[in-house]
Amino acid sequence: MDGPASKLRLPIAATGNSSAARVLDDWYVVCTSAQLDALGTKPLAAKLYGMPIAVFRTAAGELGALLDRCAHRNVPLSDGAVDGALLRCGYHGWAFDTAGVCREIPTLCAEVEGKARVVPRFAAREQDGVVWVYATPDVEPAREPYVFRWVRDPRYQSGREIFEVEGTIHAVAENALDVPHTAFLHSGLFRKAGGGNRVEVVVRRWHDRAEAEYIGEPRPPGVVGRLLAPGGGVVEHFDRFVLPSITEVEYRLGDASHICTVSALTPITDTRTRLTAVISFRLPLPAFMVTPVLGPLARAIFKQDARVLERQAANVARFGGESFVSTEVDALGPSILRLLRNAERGDRAEIGQPHEHRFFIDV
Ligand code: FES
Ligand SMILES: [Fe+2]
Repeated sequence: MDGPASKLRLPIAATGNSSAARVLDDWYVVCTSAQLDALGTKPLAAKLYGMPIAVFRTAAGELGALLDRCAHRNVPLSDGAVDGALLRCGYHGWAFDTAGVCREIPTLCAEVEGKARVVPRFAAREQDGVVWVYATPDVEPAREPYVFRWVRDPRYQSGREIFEVEGTIHAVAENALDVPHTAFLHSGLFRKAGGGNRVEVVVRRWHDRAEAEYIGEPRPPGVVGRLLAPGGGVVEHFDRFVLPSITEVEYRLGDASHICTVSALTPITDTRTRLTAVISFRLPLPAFMVTPVLGPLARAIFKQDARVLERQAANVARFGGESFVSTEVDALGPSILRLLRNAERGDRAEIGQPHEHRFFIDV
């Protein structure tokens, strides 16, 4: 017979739900080119989904990314150093080329190369001032890394900020693209609650991206809005998520004013994410007047986001899983999760016409 203690049930069971998704057949930013340069011959210890990767540049400038575990006795290769065209382990001096093949073993007279004397290698590319690594080792990449198109456009000025936060790619991407929290969490910095404007939202989802277009949105009242449109007006506003982990926020007023914030999210682990945020702008005001305002403002907004994401992640962990409820004003969150889940399964089949959904919000 059951005793009284066995009848006790916790009223809230852990859901075990998690929005963490591992999209491994794609590219992620591991560092900036400048960070790698600053290390000299020392490799950079990176992580993707918790997988340690040693990133380095040979003397000739070739980029290498190897699993951060020496084939010999498993010392991290990132503790070693670049020696000409090779990355040399700091323990017994085994030295690997950018393909992960061991080319030198000090004191060994016999043949150096052997089938087991290899380290998995990751495809690596450098473009737009950042280093990208493909998250599956020893394969030909299925696609190319994302292009920061406004960084490449000479009409734009760009600045970069790097932040690290607790949260899955989904949580961080949703936060970066979410409108309703801006009037609340960032009240006064960007939007205010109860602005009294009805705005139409069009959410579209393709096989590899989703976007929310806000139609008829008056210039946001905060500092960013004033930089963008000193004389007021109705702005064009797009929020976009691009697989595997890019967010784009675009505000435009006519042809002269355009501010775009692009964040490339890096899954350091399933629940810790780095943002490489690039703000590009083209404004009637000169850059020397804009930059001192935009930089500190972006950091202030981000601090509030980082704090709430940290609280969210800690509480999800405390309750043993996520239990989310959404409404249509959570415009992109569910679409982002769907894209991630499909991509995780390897499903990115083109769908022709985008799925489209329209509704109104009050901002
Ligand atoms: S552990 Fe790397 S050379 Fe021995
Ligand atoms: Fe925010």
